Amino acid sequence: MQVTASAPGKIILFGEHAVVYGKPAIAVAVDRRAYVTVQNREDEQIYVEVPDLEVSGYLNLEENEVKLETGDKTKKGILIYMLKSIERIHAGSGMNIHVDLNVPIGAGLGSSAAITVATIAAVSKFNGKNLSLEETARKAHEVELEVQGAASPIDTTLSTYGGIIYLSKNADALVPLEVNMEMPLVVGYTSKRGNTGELVESVRKRRENYPDALNLILDSVEALTNNAKEAILQNDEKRFGELMNINHGLLDAMGVNTAELSRMVYAAREAGAKGSKITGAGGGGSIIAYCPGKTEEVMEELNTFEKAFNANVSEEGVKIH
Ligand code: MEV
Repeated sequence: MQVTASAPGKIILFGEHAVVYGKPAIAVAVDRRAYVTVQNREDEQIYVEVPDLEVSGYLNLEENEVKLETGDKTKKGILIYMLKSIERIHAGSGMNIHVDLNVPIGAGLGSSAAITVATIAAVSKFNGKNLSLEETARKAHEVELEVQGAASPIDTTLSTYGGIIYLSKNADALVPLEVNMEMPLVVGYTSKRGNTGELVESVRKRRENYPDALNLILDSVEALTNNAKEAILQNDEKRFGELMNINHGLLDAMGVNTAELSRMVYAAREAGAKGSKITGAGGGGSIIAYCPGKTEEVMEELNTFEKAFNANVSEEGVKIH
């Protein structure tokens, strides 16, 4: 018996961090996926290997523990998401799990959510259960909450449903957007990893220290995210790009920017991007540039930093192969 499931990574276009406080956000699923393949094994153990990260080990559900076989502690985190995912659905049999990961880790592209969603789907199917998308997204969000301490449902929602989504907690709404506007995005990636949990905590502390100022910033992000939704629906590229730039400034004010990310954001604009900003938690990780008609130029410029790649919207969310 063998089951493979995959789920996409995501790019947040508007509203990261503010979404943790119930503000809306807009994000797209991208054509970079995590593939999780589950096979049975003779004994009761659960063995996982992720060759792309050079990490492998055993997940011990009873002792709630990951025992690394190869790889260093920094990579262990991804196995903890898998342990917590399997804890929620495991029916007790031994498994060998192989992960192919095309989403760079710690880059703000939702690699942990993609792996979590794909693991939940693959292991459930392996155990003879077809989870609904809603259940998959809910369980995956529970896992992120448990591992990270604080997490909005944005990453797990995108990895589950795919497409372009406007997510608003206030209205308890998840609105897939029908988009006619072209969405040529370039990701500028740095290998300096941001820790999502720590960055979310740092914004919480800043808000605690400066509640009046930070609450206004969060309200501003809410307003510009709603403006961006209109800009997308009206196919207004210029406005969409400008709103991205404003959002970047507010992420800087929240304290999640770095000098390197800033240089990349400005370099992308100088190379012709209509808008550019941090995407995801910040503190390292990635920027995105929205660059209609200028993809090549922006890519060339961002490649002078570390690595850049095109990201296309993936309509496909989690999938059993
Ligand atoms: C991380 O991709 C997005 C954050 O808003 C955290 C979250 O929503 O859980 C920074």
